[in-house]
Amino acid sequence: MATFDILVLPGDGIGPEVTAEGRRALEAIGERFEHVFRFTPDTVGGGAIDAYGVAIRPETLEAAKRSDAVLFGAVGGPKWDSPRAPVRPEQGLLALRRELGLWANLRPVKAEPALLHASPLRPEVLEGVDMLVIRELTSGIYFGTPQARRVVNGRREAVDTDYYNEEEVARVAHLGFRTARERRRHLTSVDKANVLASSRLWREVVSEIAPEYPDVTLEHVLVDAMTMHLIRRPASFDVVIADNMFGDIITDEASMLGGSMGMLPSASLGTLREDGLGLGLYEPIHGSAPDIAGKGIANPLAMLLCTAMLLRHSCGLEEEARALERAVQRAVEDGLRTPDIAAKGERTLGTREMADAVLERIGG
Ligand code: IPM
Ligand code: MG
Repeated sequence: MATFDILVLPGDGIGPEVTAEGRRALEAIGERFEHVFRFTPDTVGGGAIDAYGVAIRPETLEAAKRSDAVLFGAVGGPKWDSPRAPVRPEQGLLALRRELGLWANLRPVKAEPALLHASPLRPEVLEGVDMLVIRELTSGIYFGTPQARRVVNGRREAVDTDYYNEEEVARVAHLGFRTARERRRHLTSVDKANVLASSRLWREVVSEIAPEYPDVTLEHVLVDAMTMHLIRRPASFDVVIADNMFGDIITDEASMLGGSMGMLPSASLGTLREDGLGLGLYEPIHGSAPDIAGKGIANPLAMLLCTAMLLRHSCGLEEEARALERAVQRAVEDGLRTPDIAAKGERTLGTREMADAVLERIGG
């Protein structure tokens, strides 16, 4: 019987509602497959700012480092959103990524056949969409210095720096190629090499590594063109690698291919141990959705898919991960819907009921 330590950071908005279901899913898996998940709940984001004046406390970061995985809800909301605010909820998430060295953000995007109606795109465009976006997560314009705001000659100005070094690019490229090898052997690298120096380095390093993977087809796509191709030929993408900023933007767009942001999980991983596993942070990409917070109608499926990724990448429990993913798929095929994925007139379930429907289907 294996024991796993999970730091649980529900955060703000719908974070707590969906995280509660992720926890129940792990409990259900633990019971069925005889594993023990020990949960340590803590505060992050706006809640932490209110309680402690910081978006994450140092002891929370230390607890994260000691755990097997972090289950993360969402951070942010209108209450903390002023552009002049000295601390921002998002800093909690950024500190976790950076301090834990989680440089690879895996964002799988699949169009479930039963949910094609939920996307604003035509079903025939969506058929066969199954891609994995790997976003670089600990460098680029998010962390480059200087990052500053100042007054010069009586005028306000601000600066961000888009920094990459070759090692940061190379490890993402290798991960992209290796992952493509296990899938459809196609890799798309996204950049803005026609304008940005950091993107030219990105493209150069990816191209240099390509000969090590002759069985993988590599295409370079400029990020502006990528936003078009994502809606014109989404099924043509297999593995996509992108820097921190471009990866952030294109995955919100790609989430619409899956019908709803409420369907998309993500895993943030660092350099893995020899056994291929490592500490990871698992977070749905939908964010805190303050407009529906507290109503019990948020879609828990992204979070349940996050827990499947947690089982796979941090616990090495592949069979359990698949059991959970199959249960999610069955619930969707059986017509169960939260409001965000319902067609007009379809009966909808709340967060708890939807999660129950999935848990009932584990191993069924
Ligand atoms: C994401 C989010 C975050 C990001 C925010 C909340 C800091 O948009 O995970 O995609 O920009 O990385
Ligand atoms: Mg984002």
